Amino acid sequence: MRKIAVLTSGGDAPGMNAAIRAVVRKGIFENLEVYGVSHGYEGLINNQIKKMELGDVGDIIHRGGTKLYSARSEEFLTLAGQNKAVANLKNLGIEGLIVIGGDGSYRGASRLSELGIKTIGIPATIDNDIAGTNETIGYDTALNTIVDMIDKIRDTATSHERTFIIEVMGRDSGQLALNAGLAAGAETIFIPERQTKMSDVAARIQSGLERGKKHSLIVLAEGVMSAESCSLELGKYINIETRLSVLGHIQRGGKPTAKDRVLGSRFGAYAVELLLDGQTDVGTSIKDDKMYFVELKSVYNQKKNYDSSIYQLSKELSI
Ligand code: F6P
Repeated sequence: MRKIAVLTSGGDAPGMNAAIRAVVRKGIFENLEVYGVSHGYEGLINNQIKKMELGDVGDIIHRGGTKLYSARSEEFLTLAGQNKAVANLKNLGIEGLIVIGGDGSYRGASRLSELGIKTIGIPATIDNDIAGTNETIGYDTALNTIVDMIDKIRDTATSHERTFIIEVMGRDSGQLALNAGLAAGAETIFIPERQTKMSDVAARIQSGLERGKKHSLIVLAEGVMSAESCSLELGKYINIETRLSVLGHIQRGGKPTAKDRVLGSRFGAYAVELLLDGQTDVGTSIKDDKMYFVELKSVYNQKKNYDSSIYQLSKELSI
């Protein structure tokens, strides 16, 4: 293999730049030509493919977002779009493609592998909802951002003796809500994977009030319901004043933590090694601090389990 390419796709995640940098530099170290594709699969279809040099990835390791931009592509879901993407890669003599992204991006990479391009996925999403790996790029940074925000909310919640409902990202996954809730000492955590009865939440707040504890933090994953609906529902069981805080896209930005930079760098270099070993249709994974690879199909056909012991622990510690 002489020429490879890299793209980022789906929701951006802090640490993607560290992974791009590692792919480019490790590739050049291995005497490969490395191409960067802008705007994900959309850019692949529109031939936005440029050769990258060592300097093109200078000064990005500490930046959030993605230097290669990200996009969602409707056209890539069609066979015509996929054929255009393959033709553009083949015209440049590119045989291997590294896709940095989430579940949807993995499906695209698998499809390209079926069409004759060797593909490796690198898991990157703040949601940490990709099966087959303990962590995804961006999760640690987002988790720390959320905890930092909740700490600030706690200050004012305590001063005014109020209940706050804090809505965090996670359409299908409660990883961020669960671990941020535990780390920030939230009284209640709502996650999509598990039913929480509003009457129980109200009862816990009530018993806290009776013990003289007048503030309370509720962390809610967006996939369960909106903060507004949560407040209305809670109001049916207990008469308290609530304040709502929807953290939104603040969670997706910012400087990657050291952990995400290290993870991005390791995944990027390992993905190049996998291509050189002749692998295709696999994704990088980390378990017990070691690098592995897993079949892409086994990843996107599986839902990542949440750790119910964390949920239980947070309940026990927030009585
Ligand atoms: O990156 C994952 C995620 O943050 C989800 O938790 C969230 O629901 C979604 O992306 C929002 O993405 P967008 O703003 O790109 O529609």
